[in-house]
Amino acid sequence: MSQTAKSTSSSIIEQNLAIQGDNLSILGALADEIKGKVQCVIVDPPYAFPKEALKSADGDWQTFLRPRIEACRAALSDSGAAFIHADDAHLANVRLLADEIFGNKNFLNMVILKTADPSGLRSINPLPFNQTEYLLIYTKDRKSFTYYPQFVEAGYDSAYRSIVLNPEAPYGKWKTDSLPRHLAKMMGYRSVRQAREKMGLNFEQHMADYALKNAAAVFQSTRVNQRAGSAVVKLGQASHKKPKTMMRLERKDYSDIYMVGGRQLAFYATKLNEVDGRMVPTKKLTNLWIDIPFHGVGYEGEAKFAEGKKPERLVRRILSMCTQPGDLVLDPFAGSGTTAATCEKLGRRWLVIDNDRKNLDNLIVPRLTRVVNGLDDTGLSKVMEYPSGGSFKRLNYKGGTLVDAGQVMGSANTV
Ligand SMILES: C[S@@+](CC[C@H](N)C(=O)[O-])C[C@H]1O[C@@H](n2cnc3c(N)ncnc32)[C@H](O)[C@@H]1O
Repeated sequence: MSQTAKSTSSSIIEQNLAIQGDNLSILGALADEIKGKVQCVIVDPPYAFPKEALKSADGDWQTFLRPRIEACRAALSDSGAAFIHADDAHLANVRLLADEIFGNKNFLNMVILKTADPSGLRSINPLPFNQTEYLLIYTKDRKSFTYYPQFVEAGYDSAYRSIVLNPEAPYGKWKTDSLPRHLAKMMGYRSVRQAREKMGLNFEQHMADYALKNAAAVFQSTRVNQRAGSAVVKLGQASHKKPKTMMRLERKDYSDIYMVGGRQLAFYATKLNEVDGRMVPTKKLTNLWIDIPFHGVGYEGEAKFAEGKKPERLVRRILSMCTQPGDLVLDPFAGSGTTAATCEKLGRRWLVIDNDRKNLDNLIVPRLTRVVNGLDDTGLSKVMEYPSGGSFKRLNYKGGTLVDAGQVMGSANTV
């Protein structure tokens, strides 16, 4: 089957698509279909672009990127976001360009990615080792942007060092103790000091594990926020007057508040979130992303690609920030197919483009074929189960025409 861009039916983007050809032409051909429908765009151009290619194609970086970023912006929905990769050689130019296209008020954040470590042969260079890249985040309309808050795993927060000993009792009868003292006693030591002398660092580890297992009973006491609602402030005053009594404020649609001695109990359980299927202590995501390993990324999807391949975990974080299952994601510089593979595993729809036929033939199509058949056990598959049985279409763009080059239908697993 062959179809011209004009006659493309409105359903074409309901399928996942891997398209081979120049992204500017293809985004132009699909402009009406995708306008305002894309929830997330990932723009990861080849920064080591050969100079000859630039000369023959578009002259310089700005001229090459400008119309492509403009086309991505047009495809973006008002609530979505664009994530633009840059290395330090191009960061300033890309920032100026994207500011111009999206408007500076729609610049959300600049993320610093740790992409490498100074070890082995690479550290021979006497200059400071360059281990970062950047992600510029823009929205089409800042006010309409939907952000899904993200958390990253953190170590045990030792400020949580008190425990309710009998949490099953009515709150008025709760007994509390210091967590280290309670633990030392439980392990048969006379004091915390003796436990630390005998156990060394193991004692701290034991405390972290115990706090995690008993997160609903472990707490820290905090000052009452005087800018909180009047009911909270009043309870704080009442608690000051009767410091020995445990007091409670019941709240509709929110968790209850407990106070003793004029201070509020903050339970450790509220710090826990699920990361890779485990409940772990977390902290709010910042713009410094040093927790996503780039080491070993070459094996992901069994797709060897030396020109800036990104980890699936990185794409998962991006997608988790601004998309929901079923949303459409666009990657006009698909490379080895990381965005497509991650979307498939997370149940997002995808449209990826690369102009290099070898990338489609040898990397993207084989990688996604394994994923939709549930045969990929690399990357995110190591930490999550994903439903297979998806499908995708490959199209080639030739002479202003999108040519159907086959469909891959995966077989479903039992996840
Ligand atoms: C840095 S790589 C992307 C890597 C990708 N994020 C991954 O994880 O594998 C950039 C890709 O853009 C492709 N590319 C360059 N110019 C293009 C164009 N005009 N249209 C479509 N793809 C293009 C290159 O072939 C290359 O595969």
